[in-house]
Amino acid sequence: MSLWSLLNTPVWGPGSVLLILVLLLRLSVQVWHKLYLWDLQCCSTDLTGKIAVVTGANSGIGKAVSQELARRGARVILACRSRVRGQRALAEIQAASKSNRLLLGEVDLSSMNSIRSFAQWLLQEYHEIHLLVNNAAVCGALQRAGSARVVNVSSFRQAHGYIDEEHLIGAGRPLTFNQNYDCSKLLLASFTGKLAQRLQGTGVTVNSVDPGVVYTKIMRHFSWPYHFLFWLLSFFFKVGSGGWGRALLLSALYSSSSPVSLQDSKQGAIPVLYLCLAKELDGISGKHFNSSCVITLPPEAARDCHVAQSLWNTSVRLTNLDKVD
Ligand SMILES: NC(=O)c1ccc[n+]([C@@H]2O[C@H](COP(=O)([O-])OP(=O)(O)OC[C@H]3O[C@@H](n4cnc5c(N)ncnc54)[C@H](OP(=O)(O)O)[C@@H]3O)[C@@H](O)[C@H]2O)c1
Repeated sequence: MSLWSLLNTPVWGPGSVLLILVLLLRLSVQVWHKLYLWDLQCCSTDLTGKIAVVTGANSGIGKAVSQELARRGARVILACRSRVRGQRALAEIQAASKSNRLLLGEVDLSSMNSIRSFAQWLLQEYHEIHLLVNNAAVCGALQRAGSARVVNVSSFRQAHGYIDEEHLIGAGRPLTFNQNYDCSKLLLASFTGKLAQRLQGTGVTVNSVDPGVVYTKIMRHFSWPYHFLFWLLSFFFKVGSGGWGRALLLSALYSSSSPVSLQDSKQGAIPVLYLCLAKELDGISGKHFNSSCVITLPPEAARDCHVAQSLWNTSVRLTNLDKVD
């Protein structure tokens, strides 16, 4: 059979062409990852003797991050709001990491009382904390450690938020679910910069990172058509895409030009682990990293130092931190 007649067979329908395109896309994403992404396996950082706190550790990215930190010898405090879900995750992480240095801490980050009693318990138990991963949503033992890192898990969605201080007290322009998320991530970016500035010279660094788009339990908050689309895409593109593939796949979902990628929890944990482990980040503070572990500028609103100061003052007042030693 000649090549021409082979190409003319009905097997070359649109379905086959699509499949080949998908396979090519997946292959190029894999090559891109190999060439450009930070390689977790090549990082030799040992965390023996270090104390790490990961919020939202019972699911998704937080769970994957906790597992890797535990595997490297850290005592990891899984800060979870549900004892049942937390214990289940602890058993799974213990089995996977072969670590017996895991501890469950109960905290509901939507309640100031719960945050305070968790912080009190933490400070009683541990004099020093070397790593805090604010993965779920939102800490002083850090300074005593001499050198410590705070990692704020952000999102590329921060670019779509806006800052209205009234939102801190539940007032201001009403927000849809997505706007709530976008605005909270923008506030986190502003907070990251401000906290980094305040902690200058203390040995504690603060940075934020976008894990990329990851198929985790977080997707349950989206409507079912989005949910289905994410599920479908993650099936094909689990290895993630940081280049042109992301735009192709997600522009329809997010109409965003920011670097995003669709991946599984372990892939989403890599940028977060980069900020936790990479030696070259010693002393780097107040920066935002995209899902390819590259420093990028946070949105303009988050870089406004007057806005950041005002948000800081209001937060301190609302949380009564000004009355705490
Ligand atoms: N997945 C993505 O595509 C994506 C993209 C950009 C950024 N991110 C960011 O990555 C981080 C982790 O998300 P994920 O995808 O891993 O989501 P996930 O699987 O839904 O995990 C979220 C975790 O946060 C916990 N959590 C939520 N509210 C809490 C509260 N009030 N108090 C204590 N814990 C609370 C959840 O606990 P329960 O199990 O009890 O609910 C869960 O353990 C988030 O900051 C998210 O914004 C994710």
